[in-house]
Amino acid sequence: MKKLISLLLVLAMALTLVACGSSEPAADAPAADAPAAEGVTTYDVGVAIYQYNDNFMTLYRQEIEAYFKTLETDTVKYNITMVDSKNDMAEQTNQIDTFITQGMDVIILNLVQTSSAEVLIDKVVAANIPLILINREPLGDNGDESYEGIINNPGVCYVGADARQSGTYQGEIVLALDNKGDINGDGVVKYIMVIGDPENPDAQYRTEFSIKALTDAGVAVEALVENVGNWDQTKGQEITAAALAQFGDEIEVVFCNNDGMALGAAAAIEAAGRKVGEDIYLLGVDALDECQEMVKAGTMTGTVLNDHIGQSHTAVDAAVAALNGEALQNYYWVDYVKVDAAYFG
Ligand code: GAL
Repeated sequence: MKKLISLLLVLAMALTLVACGSSEPAADAPAADAPAAEGVTTYDVGVAIYQYNDNFMTLYRQEIEAYFKTLETDTVKYNITMVDSKNDMAEQTNQIDTFITQGMDVIILNLVQTSSAEVLIDKVVAANIPLILINREPLGDNGDESYEGIINNPGVCYVGADARQSGTYQGEIVLALDNKGDINGDGVVKYIMVIGDPENPDAQYRTEFSIKALTDAGVAVEALVENVGNWDQTKGQEITAAALAQFGDEIEVVFCNNDGMALGAAAAIEAAGRKVGEDIYLLGVDALDECQEMVKAGTMTGTVLNDHIGQSHTAVDAAVAALNGEALQNYYWVDYVKVDAAYFG
């Protein structure tokens, strides 16, 4: 609620009483010269994150809060209510209903399921609350940038990074290796793909475009295993361990849709007595600090910076623009950055 507005209303009512000649304004009406609560406007911001237990989204959500703080002034405050949707769409729907009842001034939403975008967008738009979708892009009939709930609603936008770019960068990191990933020189790069949440375009595009970069460059490939790890480190480890047990030295490249799963894969690779950079390659996305250190040390071949700072700041800036009554773009994009040995010079 815009507390300033309610305060001004009270003030206006008090002044009206005075103007109407009432000699005795209500006892609890503030005096005209009372400090108008120091003229502070407090905006209520609701933020729903698909799941707190996610390495990348943890960095992202912490930066949302930190950045909002930096934008506060003596007269503008942001009261942030952030909730964990626990990867449960029903839970998230309830949380959004609650945000609406609470009268949030703006909502930032990291969907659990992009397939439920329409229902949630409709509710929030009906309540006349600006909505900033982040991280999980609902795709329209014409793919990117075509989702009707976004293009037809001026108060709704999406902030994200183009996952095709991250997949392409993974493939390019492999192409830049002397052997282009073909460790045993048999002319075919044999790989396993550890997939994030398959409902999520980030997972779909990274899976597709990492391999496309290789095949576009004329490299022959063969998928030995493609398995869903839902962005999760433990699942990444299990999938990679099972694949190594089944295919052993045949596996030349382990592509993971994110660093969380790549950390799990790294543990499985080590446990199997394999050595990244010598007899196997390992790729992730996100550039978590830990993974950047691994790339520097050579225990990971490469990763791709998923810029949580750029994305969270863009999302918050969009929220603030909406609060100030400024027009929103439909889509805001933040670039990925390739992180391999060359990145560290
Ligand atoms: C991706 C990120 C993953 C995971 C996912 C959640 O962009 O690379 O690690 O956080 O978002 O939707």
